[in-house]
Amino acid sequence: MTIANRIAHEYAPLLTQRVEPDGFLAHHLSPFIGTEVIGIDLKQTQSEAVAEQLRQLLRDRGVLFFRDQHLSAEQQLAATAIWGPPRINDSYREGSPHPGVGIVDSIQEIAGRVSRWHADVTAAQAPSTIRLLQAIELPPHGGDTHWASTEAAYERLSPALKELADDLTAIHNITPVTLEDFRKPRSKFQWAEHPVVRVHPETGRRSLFVNPRFTREIVGLKPHESADLLELFYNHIVLPEHTTRIQWRLGSLAVWDNRSSLHYAADDYGSARRRLQSTSVELNDRPVGVRS
Ligand SMILES: [Fe+2]
Repeated sequence: MTIANRIAHEYAPLLTQRVEPDGFLAHHLSPFIGTEVIGIDLKQTQSEAVAEQLRQLLRDRGVLFFRDQHLSAEQQLAATAIWGPPRINDSYREGSPHPGVGIVDSIQEIAGRVSRWHADVTAAQAPSTIRLLQAIELPPHGGDTHWASTEAAYERLSPALKELADDLTAIHNITPVTLEDFRKPRSKFQWAEHPVVRVHPETGRRSLFVNPRFTREIVGLKPHESADLLELFYNHIVLPEHTTRIQWRLGSLAVWDNRSSLHYAADDYGSARRRLQSTSVELNDRPVGVRS
């Protein structure tokens, strides 16, 4: 019995989909977002057929989880290349094990504990596209990461609200959070205007591209109208039926499409340390709207 067949047998009652023809298994965790991939070792080079199935699965499911990977920094960069060219930063960041590999560390008060729903760096003209995180140090419990499908959220809006949202754009920026930030010249603050409804460049699917961390206001509305409408979108995006979550174990790896989901890290583990190894795909993808 092959490993894939054995896993299929053992997991049979749980499985909702089997991806053919290469035998790895895709277990959908909720109807709209999140799939656990079983039977893939990301340390190995994948065939082009498997790589294409993994790319398609990510387009369809928003976030994929792989257990027991235990990838070194170099191996995680190599795995990142399945989904596109890995982003290599010019400069080493403190604590980074390798160029292009970051560490999300809970002892960093701001970047390490982001317990607000967001997509990464939407204040940039070309925000992050595909990102990977692998757990390398975990608290005894807690620190789950949640994802919400902004495509399901758009799809499940009423037609009149979809039509309204299709025409809107919003300003995203990074709020200064430290005294040092406030002292920076204004030009250092990153901001961008993006469509409220984003069209995915590969699938053509629409998503609600706003988030409570970076989106400041909807262009052309009065401040209270903008605030109320954004609140409506946020509450709708994070309805439980649009979300999934991972309970990390050491070596667990998540890969997600930052263009079609928001994420949230639960800050519920006190002073324990939580470290995740991160990599990104470099696509320079500027958000495109319905009317763009
Ligand atoms: Fe994030």
